Amino acid sequence: MSSEFDELQELVIADMRKVYSEISIDHAMNPRNVGSIPVADGFGSVMGPCGDTMEIWLKIKNGVIVEDTFWTDGCGTSIASGSMITELAKGKNVTEALKISADDVLNALEGLPDESIHCALLAANTLAEAVRDYLALKNEPWKKAYRKQ
Ligand code: FES
Repeated sequence: MSSEFDELQELVIADMRKVYSEISIDHAMNPRNVGSIPVADGFGSVMGPCGDTMEIWLKIKNGVIVEDTFWTDGCGTSIASGSMITELAKGKNVTEALKISADDVLNALEGLPDESIHCALLAANTLAEAVRDYLALKNEPWKKAYRKQ
């Protein structure tokens, strides 16, 4: 039974390899940094034009992202993009993180099909919103106590 499942999984992955890079498949199948951060320093939630949502949580110390996590109800490439952008942002200061673009995600994933490029853009937009949220909270820290996230 399990060998039939393994064979089927191999066939599915062989099909994916025709379209996606090895690194994209790896991040989609084994996503890094999944989940939420309680009492995050920054939070972003963005719905893309496809109707899928991504959320990113940031923990920031001395202006540097020390922990970041994501969640999405989107497609496999949105999972790969969220996984990759949280890897790219970790250890960066907030100014550097704001500059991480969809192209950076696409390059790190060694490209995505044209119809999936907006998934990388969703990840970049969500990270930017989380950083902007951090910057807004920094200016008005009393609001942190009233956040839902
Ligand atoms: Fe909606 Fe990829 S994020 S199709």
